[in-house]
Amino acid sequence: MSDPTTTPDAAEAFGVYVHWPFCLSKCPYCDFNSHVRHAAIDETRFLRAFETEIAATAERAPGRTVSSIFLGGGTPSLMQPGTVGAILDAIGKRWPVARDVEVSLEANPTSVEASRFRGYRAAGVNRVSLGVQALDDASLKELGRLHTAQEALDAVAIARANFERYSFDLIYARPRQTPQEWQTELKRAIAEAAEHLSLYQLTIEADTPFATLHQAGKLITPDDDTARTLYDLTQEICAGAGLPAYEVSNHARPGAECRHNLVYWRGHEYAGVGPGAHGRLDIDGRRHATMAEKKPEAWLMRVETLGHGLVTDDVLLPEERADEFLLMGLRLAEGIDPARYTALSGRTLDPARIETLTAHGFVERDRNGSLRVTPSGFPVLDAVVADLAA
Ligand SMILES: C[S@@+](CC[C@H](N)C(=O)[O-])C[C@H]1O[C@@H](n2cnc3c(N)ncnc32)[C@H](O)[C@@H]1O
Ligand code: SF4
Repeated sequence: MSDPTTTPDAAEAFGVYVHWPFCLSKCPYCDFNSHVRHAAIDETRFLRAFETEIAATAERAPGRTVSSIFLGGGTPSLMQPGTVGAILDAIGKRWPVARDVEVSLEANPTSVEASRFRGYRAAGVNRVSLGVQALDDASLKELGRLHTAQEALDAVAIARANFERYSFDLIYARPRQTPQEWQTELKRAIAEAAEHLSLYQLTIEADTPFATLHQAGKLITPDDDTARTLYDLTQEICAGAGLPAYEVSNHARPGAECRHNLVYWRGHEYAGVGPGAHGRLDIDGRRHATMAEKKPEAWLMRVETLGHGLVTDDVLLPEERADEFLLMGLRLAEGIDPARYTALSGRTLDPARIETLTAHGFVERDRNGSLRVTPSGFPVLDAVVADLAA
């Protein structure tokens, strides 16, 4: 990356998300914008298109200081370190970059090699997030993963050797998973973790092979009571180990939260680059919600002919922006500032609704006046948000 030019705390957080849309195989539960290609990917052509889109976005949103960059996917660890370095350089050429910028890269254990990780570090990546998913071979097979538990742990060790900051993902509430098994698995994971863990309950996403199996009764997920027990265990064990939830599915030692994800949840601005990437940019005082073409080759063509890949660029109405702020912000343990909601929407949150939700123990105010969801409110978060936004 080119020389950082500004101080980190000069401006509000601004993130750049870069999407690499390819994987070695498609996991049957996943509905991310990820594609499998049997021919080699022309990384040079994609890099040119990333550079073009970064330049176009910076022209629309100049002068921000980049506080975080997230290379997500798909499987960005399939990119050559040189490609990652060139993307980071392109960002550094178009925007000032904070001295303490967080640069995360998502990696699949199947594509983790020590030399490649050293290359990412030399390129400017300073945090990796590994898709471990399970520490049990039978579960990994059922999830369609190409790696074993041992290979995942080896990848974690490589991450630890190369990066001060690393995280890994696990999926729980898997078919037949018992609280006892999850407890053992989670404790083992915590022993391998450093400062951050993402723990997702298995979601059956529409139009995935898991959805077909689920509808046919061939994939049985834990019932609501068991899922709740698994969730409660997760909170208890992680908090006890010094990794409390700072967001519904994300746990960190205080101060080690993923700063890029905080950009989304706190409603800050971010640029989205690459196939299917979303962005939120404030242009002429109005918030734009952008989305790029999802199909990788169609995105390439668009960028090469139009200079950007956007298929959506909507100005959000004040109430849409405020609802988004509520929806994202209440996922955070720290909650939201109700005054910011009012500033965005021009209306206040209904005091009667807050009172009822408080009486049920689902929300509370902290000392600074922030409104946050309580541990008993998180399992019913969607209903709480819907009630407040109504
Ligand atoms: C883009 S992937 C991570 C990186 C890499 N592609 C990998 O899988 O190793 C983001 C994460 O979302 C989670 N995820 C994806 N689909 C999910 C689902 N249906 N239910 C729960 N978690 C899911 C997985 O934990 C996955 O690691
Ligand atoms: S979970 Fe990760 S590796 Fe699997 S298809 Fe989704 S993005 Fe690709």
